[in-house]
Amino acid sequence: MQPSGSAGGPCRAFSRLLGLLFFQGVYTALSLEIKADAHVRGYIGESIKLKCTFRSSSPVSDKLTIDWTYRSPTSSRTETIFHYQSFQYPTVAGTFRDRIFWVGDVYRGDASISISNPTTRDNGTFSCTVKNPPDVHHNVPMTELVVTERGFSIQLSSAALLSILVFIPSAVVVTLLLVRMGRKSAGLKKKSKSGYKKSSIEVSDDTDQGEDEGCMRRLCTRCAECLDSDFEEAY
Ligand SMILES: *[C@@H]1O[C@H](CO)[C@@H](O)[C@H](O)[C@H]1NC(C)=O
Repeated sequence: MQPSGSAGGPCRAFSRLLGLLFFQGVYTALSLEIKADAHVRGYIGESIKLKCTFRSSSPVSDKLTIDWTYRSPTSSRTETIFHYQSFQYPTVAGTFRDRIFWVGDVYRGDASISISNPTTRDNGTFSCTVKNPPDVHHNVPMTELVVTERGFSIQLSSAALLSILVFIPSAVVVTLLLVRMGRKSAGLKKKSKSGYKKSSIEVSDDTDQGEDEGCMRRLCTRCAECLDSDFEEAY
């Protein structure tokens, strides 16, 4: 590959530089990087997105192809479940028939698909390959999919969430109402405070409850006052 020495040093240096530039050019032209999640967990009946993104130094053309393959944990056979070249070609056979949907966008470097109605039989290894000629050499990322039922812990946490969203606010409201009822039944005469207009609903006065009332109690009374002023604004 080296030019003959007859041309002398400068020529050799020039050709070496040219070679370097060429190598750089080829290297840059062939940079196609694909990324996918290594582990994906899915739940029975909830569609699963298998994410795959790519970056190519060549512009996206209609020669671009995408292939998704699947290999079950118990088999060494790999099947193609989705093919893309200008159009989408989801598999028309096998267990993934009618369940693979294209959710990607090649112009955004997105080659993702989704699986609808997953079952535990969909466990396995998926791989996403993208070729964007002249970029064809690349890594092949693998995605391990595990499909399970939503566990008891999830149900428990949603029950906890429900109680936080419903039970606690209602407990607070009930407490405030009890505090107000308590103040009402005390039957003390109304004494207006400066800068604060009492609502018509409120008849008792908190100033007559003495210095011994607890901090919590005072806090609740404050809240009740806020509630009262809210009522006033509302009507
Ligand atoms: C899929 O993986 C889950 C979690 O490891 C397991 O419980 C289930 O039995 C697997 N399903 C099959 C068909 O192997």
